[in-house]
Amino acid sequence: MTLLLELESRLAAALTEVLGESATAPVTAAADLRFGDYQTNAAMVLAKQRKTNPRALAQEIIDRLDLTGLATADIAGPGFINFRILPGAYASRAEVLIRDPRLGVPATGAGKTVVVDFSAPNVAKPMHVGHIRSTIIGDSLARIARFLGFNVIADNHIGDWGTQFGMIIYGWNHFLDATALTADPIAELVRVYRQVNAATKDDPTVLESCKAELVKLQAGDPENLTIWRQCIEVSKIGLQKIYDRLDVKFDHWLGESYYNDRLASLVTEFLEKGLARESGGAVCVFSDGTKPKEEDPFMVHKEEGWTDNPAIIRKADGGFLYATTDLATIQFRIDEWRADHIWYVVGVPQQLHFRQLFDAAARWGKTGDFQHIAFGSILGDDRKLMKTRSGDNVGLIEVLEEAVERAATAIAEKNPDLQGEEASRIAEIVGIGAVKFAELSQGRLTDYVFSWDRMLALQGDTAPYLQYSHVRIRSIFRKLDAPFDASAAEIHLNEPAEIHLVRLLVRFGEVLPTILEDFRPNLLANYVLELARAFHSYFEACPVLKAEEPIRSSRLALCELTSRTLKQGLYLLGIEVPERM
Ligand code: ARG
Repeated sequence: MTLLLELESRLAAALTEVLGESATAPVTAAADLRFGDYQTNAAMVLAKQRKTNPRALAQEIIDRLDLTGLATADIAGPGFINFRILPGAYASRAEVLIRDPRLGVPATGAGKTVVVDFSAPNVAKPMHVGHIRSTIIGDSLARIARFLGFNVIADNHIGDWGTQFGMIIYGWNHFLDATALTADPIAELVRVYRQVNAATKDDPTVLESCKAELVKLQAGDPENLTIWRQCIEVSKIGLQKIYDRLDVKFDHWLGESYYNDRLASLVTEFLEKGLARESGGAVCVFSDGTKPKEEDPFMVHKEEGWTDNPAIIRKADGGFLYATTDLATIQFRIDEWRADHIWYVVGVPQQLHFRQLFDAAARWGKTGDFQHIAFGSILGDDRKLMKTRSGDNVGLIEVLEEAVERAATAIAEKNPDLQGEEASRIAEIVGIGAVKFAELSQGRLTDYVFSWDRMLALQGDTAPYLQYSHVRIRSIFRKLDAPFDASAAEIHLNEPAEIHLVRLLVRFGEVLPTILEDFRPNLLANYVLELARAFHSYFEACPVLKAEEPIRSSRLALCELTSRTLKQGLYLLGIEVPERM
C-alpha cells in the first residue's frame, strides 16, 4: 500500500469514529513541503456540511487519528490537516520498494481491457509532426496503462481507405517510379500524390479520371484492388521503419478498410432502429433531443439560432464515411475485444467527430468508457504551424533525423572518447529521447513551440539531462569492486537531502495512477525531472562511497532504487537510457 493510501485508510478510521458513520476523504501530496508531506481538507469540507467550526473538527479528527509509526499531524490555516511522514516510515517504505519489481506501483487497471487508438496516419500521405504527437502520447499512455495492469490493445487505425486512393491509383498508372518506390515507398507515394494533385490543376479531366478510379476501386475492380493492396503493403513497410526507430509497437493494424464489409448492414440497422434517417438522399444521425442544446453534438448555434448538425453515415451516392467506419470499429472492439475503455489520441480538430461518435454509439447501446484524448499543434519559432522552407508540413522523419544529428554533434563535443557504432547508437537514443520528452513534458492541449536548442540541452528540463542523470548513477556502481545487492540493504535516513529523495521515490506509485485521470503524461515527465534533481542534491550533500557502513550500503541502495525508478519512468515515456554518454 502506498503511504498516501495508508494515510487515507487511517484517516477514514478516525472520520468514522468522529462522525459515527463510515466516511472517507482524500489525502493529497502537499503543495508546499514546509507544511508537511501530505495534507487533507477533510475537516473543512465536513465542517461546511455540518455547519461547525473547521479547526475544532480538525482537532477532533486528529485526536482520534492513530498515526503510530507513520506520521505526525497538525492543523494549519482555516482547518487543513498536514501530515509529516516519520523518517523511520520513509525508511521502511524504501526497503519495501527496493524489493519490489513494480516499484510500489499498484495494479489499478487489473481486469480491464483498454484499446488505445493512436498514430493512425493516412496511407500515401506523409506522417507530419502532428502525427508525432499522437504516436508519442499514445505510446506513452499505452505503456503506462500496461504497467498499471490494464490489458492494453494498441491498434493502429490507419487511413487506408479514402478518397485519396482515386488520385494514387491514377498516379500509380501514370507517374510511378518503381525504383524510387522500393527505395523509399512513403516518399515516392507522396511524390506521386503531389504530382497528381498538380496535374488536376492543369487539366480538369485528370480529376475526373481520378474519381473514376476511385469508383472502380470501391466497386471491387480487381486491377485497382491490386494496386491499392500494393500501396498499403509498401506504406506499412515504410511506417514500420519509423515505428522501429521510435520503439513504438502495435498489437494490431486494423485500418479503415478492415471494416468495409460491415458498413452497409450498419447503416441498415441504424435506419431500422430509428437511430438514423434519410435526409436529402443521405442517411444521417440527428439529435435525439435528450440533451440541453449546448451539450448536444448534433445541434449547432448559427446566426438564425439552433439548427441541426447531423452526422452523415451514408452519402447520397451510396458512399460511406469516416464516422460510419468509426461506428463499426467501436462495435468490433466491444464485441471482439471486450473493450472496457477506448482511448482515441487524435488532434483537437476532430473533437466534434468524436462527440458525435460517442453519442451515437451510446444510443446504439454500445457502452463503455470512450475518451477523445486531444492535443494541440506544434508551432515553429514564428508561433505559426511548423512548416519547411518550401511551405510543406515538416515530416516526422526529418525531425528525427535532425534531432539525432544534433545529438551526435553534442556528444562528440562533450565526450570525444565515444566513437563509431557506440557513438551513433547513443546519438540515436539521445536524439529521439529528446524529441519525445519535449513532447511529453508539455500539457497535451497546449500548442507548443518547437525548439531544438531547448530540447537537446544537457542542463534543463530535457531527456538528455535525465539520461545523463541515469548514466551518472550507474557510474557509481562501476566503481565498486563487487556487485552490490540492494535487496539486502537496511535504509537509514538522517540528512534532509536523503529524506527528500525517498519522499520522491515513494511517490512514483502515487503519481502513476493519477496520470490516467486526465491522460497527462506530463505529470510523469515532471516527476522524473524532480526525481533527477533530488538525486543530484542528494549526491552533493551525502557522500556515498566514502561513507561508513551501514550508511554506505543504505546510500548505495538509494542510488540503486533511484536509477531503477528513473529508468522505469523514462521507459514509460518511451525513452531509452544509454549506458554511457
Ligand atoms: N487517420 C485519421 C487522421 O489522420 C486518424 C484516425 C484516428 N482514429 C480513429 N478511430 N478515428 O486524421
